[in-house]
Amino acid sequence: MTLKNITVLGSGIMGHGIAQISAMSGYKVKLRDIEKQFLDRAMDKVKWSLQKLAEKNKITNDQVEEFYNNITPVVDLNEAVKETDLIIEAVPEDYNLKKSVYKELDKITDSKTIYASNTSTLPITELSKLIDNPNRFIGVHFFNPPQLMKLVEIIPGTETDPLIIEEINNYVKKIRKTPIICKKDVAGFIVNRIFIPLVHEAAHCLDRENNSMEIVDSAVKYRLDFPMGIFELADYTGLDVIYKATYEMNLRDKKVILPHPKIKELYETKHFGQKSGKGFYEYKGDKYERIDLSEEKASKYDPISILAVASNNASWLISNEVCSKEDLENALKLGMGLKTEIFKLIEKYGVQKVLDELNKLKEKYGEFYLPDKYLLSLK
Ligand SMILES: NC(=O)c1ccc[n+]([C@@H]2O[C@H](COP(=O)([O-])OP(=O)(O)OC[C@H]3O[C@@H](n4cnc5c(N)ncnc54)[C@H](O)[C@@H]3O)[C@@H](O)[C@H]2O)c1
Repeated sequence: MTLKNITVLGSGIMGHGIAQISAMSGYKVKLRDIEKQFLDRAMDKVKWSLQKLAEKNKITNDQVEEFYNNITPVVDLNEAVKETDLIIEAVPEDYNLKKSVYKELDKITDSKTIYASNTSTLPITELSKLIDNPNRFIGVHFFNPPQLMKLVEIIPGTETDPLIIEEINNYVKKIRKTPIICKKDVAGFIVNRIFIPLVHEAAHCLDRENNSMEIVDSAVKYRLDFPMGIFELADYTGLDVIYKATYEMNLRDKKVILPHPKIKELYETKHFGQKSGKGFYEYKGDKYERIDLSEEKASKYDPISILAVASNNASWLISNEVCSKEDLENALKLGMGLKTEIFKLIEKYGVQKVLDELNKLKEKYGEFYLPDKYLLSLK
């Protein structure tokens, strides 16, 4: 089967971007939302983004028109899925909403249609059971913004047909992204399994060691070679996204995250980060603002506990055969922008030092910090 027609459900942050990059690779896309005004806004964003690419000479003015016209915005669901080969669902991260969407879809699509969910945290196998034919269901996790981020995690459910995995792998390559297969449908998949617990760990560092956010963030940026500090990255991602991911991941697996109450508090007070003017930090305007981080501030703090938690979760993914070490490093590079491989950082610090830190944390704060067997095997 060669995919030609794609339906993207939901025209929000992710949906309009997924529609755009698919349209730019020649797919005919139907973009569906529940109200025309949402589609109008999404199509304006697509036009703006294509025009920016033309200004930078990445595409021609004719291509702006061609790619834009490859997307048809529709409200009517029957019309949206007529003759479609692949449905990419990007409706809000709410299990009951997704459930009602799949139930409705299942009545009107034909048996060959592929279902792909862009969920960040919901179990793919469980979602797949909402349709008659779970072997045609798969997770396809894009990163924000899809127009720029190279990584796409592909997550088969336990019943996904291997041919569907291949088909989606080819689609991701065709839209010029890097597919990485998350071989087991685990909470947080690959990147979020590392990133979300780190936000909580960084918040714990503030209380436990009486640090300032700038010092912790500077240390993460300059000593662990992250593209930005963790609090900065959390504010950029959105505390609403992080809180919901925390909630869903914890529902599936209590051992993944040691929750810090600050994340829930920021979510409940609607301090979502950059987009709301306040998160961990405060922001003045709508423009993307960087926090003043420096090597001098970094010299005041050793972020070993943050490295220890990241290393432990990375090791867990390998010892549980969720992905290979190479895929893990590639996913962290493309999905989180890590500039130095995590296992190189462990080597630089010394495996024993990382294990000692985990054991120390375990003594004080419990089993969450129990070192993983893969990490132990590196001794
Ligand atoms: N925002 C991120 O950083 C990010 C990153 C990766 C994955 N995701 C996942 O992508 C999905 C969408 O997230 P988002 O941030 O784009 O959400 P969003 O709220 O920006 O957009 C969701 C859109 O879906 C529409 N919608 C609601 N019900 C619908 C229905 N029945 N049919 C069609 N459209 C419907 C809404 O009107 C809205 O426009 C979620 O599962 C989320 O977890 C988000």
